[in-house]
Formats: sequence, structure tokens, C-alpha cells
Amino acid sequence: MKVVTVSNIKGGSAKSTTAIHLADSLSRRGKTLVIDMDMQADLTDFFLPHHSTEAIEEKNVMSLLLGRSKIEDVLIKGKTIDIIPSTLTLSKLVRIAEDPFFLSQNLKKAIDSVSKEYSYVVIDTPGSAKYELTSALYCANLVLIPVTPSKWAIRAVNLLLDEISQTESLFSASKKSAFLPCLFGTSKKHREILERLRSIEEIPTLNEIPKSESIKTKTEKHEFLKKDSNPWHAFDVLADEVIRIVDPENRFPFLG
Ligand SMILES: Nc1ncnc2c1ncn2[C@@H]1O[C@H](COP(=O)(O)OP(=O)(O)OP(=O)(O)O)[C@@H](O)[C@H]1O
Ligand SMILES: [Mg+2]
Repeated sequence: MKVVTVSNIKGGSAKSTTAIHLADSLSRRGKTLVIDMDMQADLTDFFLPHHSTEAIEEKNVMSLLLGRSKIEDVLIKGKTIDIIPSTLTLSKLVRIAEDPFFLSQNLKKAIDSVSKEYSYVVIDTPGSAKYELTSALYCANLVLIPVTPSKWAIRAVNLLLDEISQTESLFSASKKSAFLPCLFGTSKKHREILERLRSIEEIPTLNEIPKSESIKTKTEKHEFLKKDSNPWHAFDVLADEVIRIVDPENRFPFLG
């Protein structure tokens, strides 16, 4: 089982969109679990549009982090992808929990306990540095960092890299990371930001996810991308790139 944590502390940087469609592509390659760790609950809304808020208040990632529930109690089975939902109540986590270490250990133990059942776990994180983020970074085999062409893009990336190295030193564990350019256009300004991103040597920059109206509208309508459409292919290529990084041994043995 490999865990991909999608993260960028800048809000609106295509984290949830990436987590949803990457999970869809990965689920065609192996059983996939998504964990919504953002109290905005965009993944929860996407995967569980018909669940009542009461049902989600009973079963969610908060009690898992606090060690009050077992993973099987908070995991909701989907047709192709299972989900651990999030809730607005996560906003209270910082007040309830004493430190992120305890939460991270709980999350790791829970994920490890289902390692035989899933090939991939995709975690969506909030657009700010919180305990949830530390826990999700701790459990990651790969931190996938979607980057959009904003004025703050490189600054936000550097802050997240700081956060990752703090987590690494806190837990003495090193993480793989990769940048995923999203929503870049052809303007000089956008290409310059992309070049600066690519110049950060120790972290690879993956193929771009293009700006696409269908990615936006399908995601808003809680629908997966149309099979064989260009956006669908972009996320299909992403799934292969992710697997190449987290699981280099497990690459299409028949194709060599
Ligand atoms: N490739 C794309 N093409 C067009 N629109 C996109 C694309 N990726 C993301 N978007 C849009 O950009 C906006 C932000 O995306 P998203 O909600 O995934 O970001 P986020 O990082 O999860 O935000 P937050 O920090 O609020 O959780 C959304 O309106 C989404 O539909
Ligand atoms: Mg989001």
C-alpha cells in the first residue's frame, strides 16, 4: 500500500480536484481509499453527495485521529473507491488534541491496519498548516504538491517544504515529494513561475494538469471525468507518474 498526500498550504491550489481525479485513476490500477482531512470537506461532498450531515458527524476522520474509533467504524464503502469523510468539527482538533505527534501515530496505525486491503491511499489536506496536515504528511509515501500560477506560488511551496522537513525531523522519516503544475497558461509570467518551480532541483516537477472547463464543471457536479477525454488522460498519466515514484518495482511487468 502506498499513501499519497496532496498538499499545498496555499488555498485554492487544486488539491481537492487533484485528489479526486488521481484517486479515480489509481482505483483503475488497485483498490483505493481516500481520506478527507480538510474540514471544508470537498472530497466528502464529492464522494458522498447523498449522505446526511448527521451520518457524517457520526463517522469521520476526527475520531480516528483522536484514537476514539477504529478505521472500520469510520470508513464508508463506495462503488469503486472507499472514503473516510471529514467534518467541520475538525476545526476543534487543535483545541482538543495536545500535540500532532499523538494524532499522527493514530492515523498511521489506522492506515497500516488496512494495508492488505488497499493498494493506494489518497489524502486531501487543508490549505493551511494545521495538525491534520502534519499527520497527513507523516503518513505519506509521496507528498504531491499541486502548484497554480499565482504570485505566491513559490513562497507557498517553500513554506510547505519547511513544513515537510519539520515533520521529517520530528518523526525521523524522510518523504518523497513532487510538484504538479495545475492551471498554467502559455503567458510569459506563467512560464517563468514554472521555470522557477523546475529549478528546485531536489523535487521533480511532473507533467502539467491543463486548465480545463470540464475538470471544473465535472468536479462541481460530483462526476468523474469522461473516459478517454484529454483531462482524463492527464490524470491517467499522473497515476503512472505517481506509481513510478512510490512503487518503482511495480510497473507493468509485461511491458518491461
Ligand atoms: N485543471 C483545472 N482546470 C480548471 N479548473 C480547475 C482545475 N483544477 C482546479 N480547478 C478549479 O480551481 C478551484 C480550486 O480548486 P480546488 O478546490 O481543487 O483547490 P484546493 O487547493 O483544494 O482549495 P482549498 O485550499 O480551498 O481546499 C476550483 O474552482 C476548481 O474547480
Ligand atoms: Mg480543497
